[in-house]
Amino acid sequence: MLRKTLLYLSGQPRVFRFVRNNGLAKGFASRFVAGETVSAIVPAVRALNERGITVSLDLLGESVHTAAEARAGADEYVALLDRIAAERLDANVSLKLTAMGLDVDESLCLENMHRILTKAKEYGSFVRLDMESSDYTDRTLDLFEEQLHPAYPANVGIVLQSMLRRTQDDVARANRLQARVRICKGAYREPESVAFPDKADVDGSYVRAMQTLMSEGNYPGIATHDPKMIDEAKRFAAAENIATDRYEFQMLYGVRRDLQEQLVQEGYRLRVYVPFGTQWYPYLMRRLAERPANLWFITGSVLKEMTSRRR
Ligand code: FDA
Repeated sequence: MLRKTLLYLSGQPRVFRFVRNNGLAKGFASRFVAGETVSAIVPAVRALNERGITVSLDLLGESVHTAAEARAGADEYVALLDRIAAERLDANVSLKLTAMGLDVDESLCLENMHRILTKAKEYGSFVRLDMESSDYTDRTLDLFEEQLHPAYPANVGIVLQSMLRRTQDDVARANRLQARVRICKGAYREPESVAFPDKADVDGSYVRAMQTLMSEGNYPGIATHDPKMIDEAKRFAAAENIATDRYEFQMLYGVRRDLQEQLVQEGYRLRVYVPFGTQWYPYLMRRLAERPANLWFITGSVLKEMTSRRR
């Protein structure tokens, strides 16, 4: 019930306008969002790199409704790739096609993506297309398979979500192309017609997709904080003799930092997804929905910080 409410609130712009001006909510957000500007997050990225962790930077923002907004979003990503190179950060980028204009005009979205991917290719960098709700799965995969991957095979990859019933087929399609895939469970509220309602099925689908990607795919990103999924990946890699440089684990900024540290200590590759920007509200609400206990955890730590500052 709380999860559903949080996911519902994640799509309410009026609630966002209210919380954006609220100091307590900003304190909440800082646990999961590295900052509002590139300059503000460079130290956090450098600190992760120094601990042997690579990064994927995500400029927060979801669907835009005008061509001007979409072009401005693409400009920011081009500038971000320049900045990553100038600062010599070990980081690539993740983006959402709706922030590049997918809902405005597909040809505009494509034009923006060509601009970003030309820049990524120039730097030998990589752009991950985040996966949004199931309304966008076909359009995202079609654009990827027909236009973007053929033109920039080494510089662009996709995300597949194990909660969707279709995902094993999409994994097979991606492996045929040797496209790079990030596998995650899926963060959106979906109808039972397209997604498994039970966690056990989502987890079972995750393990199947992960194993196929690890044995037949191209450098998969295993994105999860679930110790059971991580142990299963380690076990499968050992049993099948899959070297640690043929895949990477991926986790979100601020989530399970203990597990992040442990993986690095054990010699596994880890990339942390670092979101930043002013549009942090829907992202934060999805993180809270995944684990409503975070509400109390973060409230506690924000209040603790506030009271110790007053002392
Ligand atoms: P699950 O939700 O089953 O949680 C397992 C355990 O992990 C929990 O018991 C808890 O210990 C820990 N945990 C999970 N979430 C936590 C949180 N927020 N705070 C604290 N602990 C938490 N989704 C999507 O739809 N499209 C996308 O493009 C992406 N991209 C993406 C990139 C990366 C790098 C990651 C790690 C995740 C995504 N996701 C995503 C989100 C993903 O689909 C999923 O919602 C979350 O990762 C939570 O699922 P878990 O696999 O972690 O397991």
